[in-house]
Amino acid sequence: MKVLGILGSPRIGGNSDVLLDQALAGAREAGAEIEKIILSQKKIAGCLDCGKCNETGICVIKDDMGEIHKKVLEADALIHSVPVYFWAMTSQMKAYLDRWCAFFDEQWGMQKAYRPKFKEKKIGLITLCGDSNTSAGDPIVHSFKNTSDFAGLTWVGVVQASASSKGEIARNEAVKKKAFDLGKKAATP
Ligand SMILES: Cc1cc2nc3c(=O)[nH]c(=O)nc-3n(C[C@H](O)[C@H](O)[C@H](O)COP(=O)(O)O)c2cc1C
Repeated sequence: MKVLGILGSPRIGGNSDVLLDQALAGAREAGAEIEKIILSQKKIAGCLDCGKCNETGICVIKDDMGEIHKKVLEADALIHSVPVYFWAMTSQMKAYLDRWCAFFDEQWGMQKAYRPKFKEKKIGLITLCGDSNTSAGDPIVHSFKNTSDFAGLTWVGVVQASASSKGEIARNEAVKKKAFDLGKKAATP
């Protein structure tokens, strides 16, 4: 069982990072092999909608997303963690998600070659926001939940938290436990 954590915040050691680490610790406790990708340390251009991937399943843009595509395909579970920036996900996470285009064919069906890889794959989400009302993260949940359904993934749930200063969430034991349990659930067959 491989669990891949994908960090959409550029703030290393920030709130999304702290909760993602908790989720990955939960996955490790459940026996999974874990890996974390920090999107802000990668070069990921926006999708060009050139349509070339419709035939090949491979994106023409030569950047770090090629390697990330492979890791997403190989993982049994994906956990994304991202803060709210202006009522939406960060640009790093959006560029990454748009590049999922390569997994689909012309009719927006899953590429045949990838269907077995996506069939059993699980997906979970963590959102952070400065607003005391964690529903500020709902547009991100909407985006990931729909993408999950569209790609035929198994949704394991979402943890939504509120914090502002860097790493402040580390003092919130209740939400850390929720993130840990999300990771554990993602790693449990
Ligand atoms: C550019 C920018 C835009 C933000 N926009 C929002 C917002 O629209 N709503 C909100 O609740 N918090 C907003 N925040 C606050 C962050 O979501 C919050 O500080 C979060 O804890 C950051 O997570 P991180 O430590 O993982 O980077 C914004 C922060 C930045 C830097």
